[in-house]
Amino acid sequence: MSSSMSSDPSLADTPKCCVIGHPIAHSRSPLIHGHWLAEHGIKGTYTKLDVAPDELAGFAKAMRDGLWRGANVTVPHKQAVAAHLDELTEAARKIGAANLIYASNNKLIGDNTDFIGFLAHLDQSVSGWANKIETALVLGAGGAARAVIYGLNQRGVSRFIVVNRDQARIAELSAALGIAVEAIDWSKAAAAVARADLIVNTTSLGMKGQPPLQLDLSGLKPGTIVDDIVYVPLLTPLLTDAAQRGAQIVDGLGMLLHQAAPAFARWFAVTPTVSPELRALIEADVMAGLK
Ligand code: ATR
Repeated sequence: MSSSMSSDPSLADTPKCCVIGHPIAHSRSPLIHGHWLAEHGIKGTYTKLDVAPDELAGFAKAMRDGLWRGANVTVPHKQAVAAHLDELTEAARKIGAANLIYASNNKLIGDNTDFIGFLAHLDQSVSGWANKIETALVLGAGGAARAVIYGLNQRGVSRFIVVNRDQARIAELSAALGIAVEAIDWSKAAAAVARADLIVNTTSLGMKGQPPLQLDLSGLKPGTIVDDIVYVPLLTPLLTDAAQRGAQIVDGLGMLLHQAAPAFARWFAVTPTVSPELRALIEADVMAGLK
């Protein structure tokens, strides 16, 4: 395990949190939590920690020993970490992924705040969206798709069309969430666009360095909301295309910022806000990474 932690002895009593992943160099979580720690004058640290898969057990032990107050969990550990924890919250269990670990009553708990981040950003971007959505078209069937569908369903959306290359994953998603979905393959996606009130891309397609997302939006209904959880680049080709067709667009950066807020509140007992200043800070970092 390698950490960017300082070994300054004056930090001995300071609550320490981190984000674990492999690789972890590009994580923006330290910038987000560092901003809030400074804003609220909280004595605490939040660092990134490279934890290889065979080091996960060791990290869980370090948390049990009280070395860390909490941790965010990112790729590739969101599923695998469950084997090292005592309990999962209902959301983490159904979504099948934990992005957050905390200790409670000597137990290590895995939680998922991705769905909270997704909903909070949608709330901030499109007021009253839940009343406008009858059918949601979700692209992808991985952990992010599960978080999105779980969240939407919590807010009353019950009709889902899910597009994925691997159809078996759609059936697994539906069974795990206990939510019926219509499964289609990519050849049917353009036709499904015309039936959707909300379209969410949860795949990595369209992200910098990944293949493009090819989706014909010509059938888009007026007023459809198009949400891409990819945030590198900030404005993906899907969002640009949708905006040109008059859709309401929602970018992916807000989900990242908003999923961090409940984690910060859990560890530091202060509910932070996703301010324009924070967004500008992270946007600048994303833009710098694109150069
Ligand atoms: P996450 O936890 O972020 O959702 P994941 O579980 O690896 O990550 O899921 C990635 C999603 O992107 C999946 O829906 C995947 O499709 P498959 O399940 O068919 O693999 C989708 N995806 C990634 N690369 C893709 C590609 N080149 N073409 C189509 N879909 C792709």
